[in-house]
Amino acid sequence: MRAARSPVTIALLVVLLWGVLAPAAAEEQSVGERLFESHCARCHENGVQGAPMKSLLRQMTPNAIYNTLTKGAMRFQGREIPDGDLRQIAFYLTQREVASGELPTFASCRRKLRLSDQKASAGWGIEASNTRFVDREHAGMAAADVGHLKLAWAFAFPDSVGVRSQPAVAGGVVFVGSQSGSVYALDAHTGCLYWKFDAAGEVRGAITYRDRDARGLESSRTGILYFGDAFANVYAVDAGTGGLLWRVKVDSHPAARIAGSPAVFGGRVYVPLGSWGEELAAASADYVCCTFRGSLTAIEHRTGKILWKRYTVPTAAVEQYRNSLGKPQMGPSGAGIWSTPTIDARRGSIYLTTGNNYSDPVDDNSDAMFALSLKTGRVRWKHQILPDDVYNDGCGAIYNDAPNRPTCPKTPGPDADFTAPPVLVALSGGGEILVAGQKSSDIMGLDPNDGHFVWKYRISHDPAPMSGGVWFGMAVDGDTVFVPVTGTERNRSVPMDPNTHLDQIYKFSAANGLYALEARTGAIKWARTAAACEPGIECKGFAAAPVAIAGAVFAGSIDGIVRAFASSTGKILWSFDTSREFPAVGGKTGTGGAIWGAGALMMADGMLFVHSSAARPQSVLLAFSIH
Ligand code: HEC
Repeated sequence: MRAARSPVTIALLVVLLWGVLAPAAAEEQSVGERLFESHCARCHENGVQGAPMKSLLRQMTPNAIYNTLTKGAMRFQGREIPDGDLRQIAFYLTQREVASGELPTFASCRRKLRLSDQKASAGWGIEASNTRFVDREHAGMAAADVGHLKLAWAFAFPDSVGVRSQPAVAGGVVFVGSQSGSVYALDAHTGCLYWKFDAAGEVRGAITYRDRDARGLESSRTGILYFGDAFANVYAVDAGTGGLLWRVKVDSHPAARIAGSPAVFGGRVYVPLGSWGEELAAASADYVCCTFRGSLTAIEHRTGKILWKRYTVPTAAVEQYRNSLGKPQMGPSGAGIWSTPTIDARRGSIYLTTGNNYSDPVDDNSDAMFALSLKTGRVRWKHQILPDDVYNDGCGAIYNDAPNRPTCPKTPGPDADFTAPPVLVALSGGGEILVAGQKSSDIMGLDPNDGHFVWKYRISHDPAPMSGGVWFGMAVDGDTVFVPVTGTERNRSVPMDPNTHLDQIYKFSAANGLYALEARTGAIKWARTAAACEPGIECKGFAAAPVAIAGAVFAGSIDGIVRAFASSTGKILWSFDTSREFPAVGGKTGTGGAIWGAGALMMADGMLFVHSSAARPQSVLLAFSIH
């Protein structure tokens, strides 16, 4: 997966759309500038492969740039650059020193955290089957109340230009991860801060909350939070205190990162592993590509002990041939797991979807769905949905004007990964179906017993690749599946110049929108596509996974509008534009822009939580309340 492509491109889009181009800083040949030229410019000068342009980097804080290079999205690029040089680069871009501490953008809570009421909306999929459906008791609101939602408070994430971590809400506390690696415990009603835990790297996935259960967890009187970071570390943290219970690294590959979220079930923590670092590293002609393999690791929830680990590509990469630079090409590789696996308690199975291979040879594990035994990790069935998808960011020719580089596989595929997991839908007439969608916008229903297709079609008929696709996930209410679709097509005749308006560089797909499908057949019940979304407002596309309550589904779009739609008709019940500045708790200002990432929304106790980012400092978490 070119994980880079969607969010940063979109964040870039958003910034350009709002016309907030940074003024060009004074050009003087400094140490920092020379370092930037040699380490960063080849991607960031021209916006290659969706890398944010230099003008955009200049709007970040020095800490955010430094954090990105040491523990975030660019840590693989930054790993061999001395610390002093990284600071020089950050200084060159922002004209400010990297500060030792974070900006205090939060207000500390006066009272002590007491997680007495353990009612929780927590975990990426909310239910183990990944329906993303919040029931009446937990949501604390019905479809009729949705129109009363009003902004209660905003939280500005220190030093972050993007945020993707889906909040978990339990007992009146919101737990959310961030780009800088901090996990925050905020009061749901006021936004004040109870505690902050610093993970080693960016926390992209959802925070998964679990109550203390009958079998122990004596160390905690409240609940446990599980999450992963950009170094492939998994954490169990006491929800009441923010204290670390255990931490374990699930993979030693230098580019391994956790983008999805742990699925916690039956006393085990199942951790999906992807790597958006190595696919990107292959954009450098001299990179020895590629050796990363996706995997699922099962961990004992009390101790952090690894019980088993199943690679998607079963054999380690070996040299396949020498490329045109004489460098070894290693393979097979890739097939990362980008999303949160789906639990089927009745069958004792866990389902997951994979991304593309990174290097030759292409194998039958990429762009596939797997059913593993929950207990042992043994493969019960595997269905490769799209064969021959081998791709890395050295294959520039596919998406932009750069030629293919030596690292690109011999016959590159379309890079149409699965970045969302399947949903296990319980059908009203009995029986179940797995519903899944791909970046190509192919959507499908499969039999959970053996993985055969029940139905399959492409929701966007636009022939251009990525002109509409399913990115981060779906939501389900009863027999209805809500599918967000987003995509843009690059107009190649227009150069990627920061002064060119976005609408000239990209064309938003007409297929973008929110679709409601019949789970059993895939038939479309209603669709709110780009033009037919809201009177007078064109919808730019929905990437973030929606959340459903009885009678209403909430979805955020890449241009920053969050809407509630009536589940049965698609009628808009409520909407709010997050693409502006907000006064935040603690007296700072946060800026919203795009709603994207695996999980941007959560509902609990009559409140809705949404995060929004504009690729500029201080992304926001917004809290709305019906009270
Ligand atoms: C091989 C191409 C490449 C090189 C070299 C590279 N970058 Fe990047 N950079 C990218 C891409 C692509 C993204 C978007 C990644 C994503 O969102 O996962 C990115 C993202 C970033 C971001 C934003 C991160 C975020 O989370 O929003 C910063 C800051 C950044 N790069 C700085 C740098 C600096 C500084 C250097 C040089 C030391 C550098 N990069 C080298 C391609 C590159």
